[in-house]
Amino acid sequence: MNSIQLTDAEFQKISGLVMELSGIYLSESKKALVSGRLAKRLREFGLDSYNAYFDLLMEPGGQRELQHALDLLTTNETYFFREPDHFDYLRENLISQLPSHDSFRVWSAACSSGEEAYTLAMVLADSLGSRVWEIIASDLSSRMLDKARTGIYPESRKKHFPPFFFERFCQPVVKNPNEFEIDRKLKRRVHFMPINLISSYPDIGPFDLIFLRNVMIYFDLETKRNVVRKILGMLKKGGHFIIGHSENLHGIDEGLMSIKPSIFRKI
Ligand SMILES: C[S@@+](CC[C@H](N)C(=O)[O-])C[C@H]1O[C@@H](n2cnc3c(N)ncnc32)[C@H](O)[C@@H]1O
Repeated sequence: MNSIQLTDAEFQKISGLVMELSGIYLSESKKALVSGRLAKRLREFGLDSYNAYFDLLMEPGGQRELQHALDLLTTNETYFFREPDHFDYLRENLISQLPSHDSFRVWSAACSSGEEAYTLAMVLADSLGSRVWEIIASDLSSRMLDKARTGIYPESRKKHFPPFFFERFCQPVVKNPNEFEIDRKLKRRVHFMPINLISSYPDIGPFDLIFLRNVMIYFDLETKRNVVRKILGMLKKGGHFIIGHSENLHGIDEGLMSIKPSIFRKI
């Protein structure tokens, strides 16, 4: 039971910090969520106020806890073959028209625990086989990236998988039959790295395709505009940019041609 009250001033401090570090905008309506999700940390540290927790985050050694707090306050929901029409589009319109000698590079930006990146890898491996292709997958959360790198998921994550892909690219974990593991050869073709979308990007481009799905919903318009401008700098001319179905690029789609809802091409 959370009996410690989160005051408006404390909420402002915490939401300001989250904004500064991740670009995620926490409106007043998220106050209960913030106090609920951080309450356990206050209890674990034996603190009697959110101010004291904020001070702990700001201490020189507070980096680790800061990452933990960000993890608690961000939404990491994801699953294999999420928004499947994007993968159909990739197979039917992009890969099928790829000249046979061309390589194909994809960036799954904000990949969470890796399901999006591995889904891309399965589709590419199925269609391109041993041809040259590569997937870079990144996220702000080191905890999510650690999970992603294991390539091990609970059985419940099988839910949205087309059986063909599951049978071809996943194996049960020998020591724990309630988990499955992504094929090791496939795993090696996905490179996970930490990238904060609101900071500077490492020199990893250019890409033929960038997935930026279900993260911009948490940004305000200014952050969204800046992130999209920087991301497009990493995309080849003629390359494709795919966002989540619940997101839009209203007013910030300069230099892009809309192909169908949530799918764009750089012109
Ligand atoms: C809801 S998940 C989306 C995962 C996947 N793209 C999908 O559509 O299923 C959002 C992810 O964005 C990440 N994220 C939030 N702010 C970020 C930032 N500034 N830079 C990089 N990743 C960020 C979170 O850590 C989280 O894993």
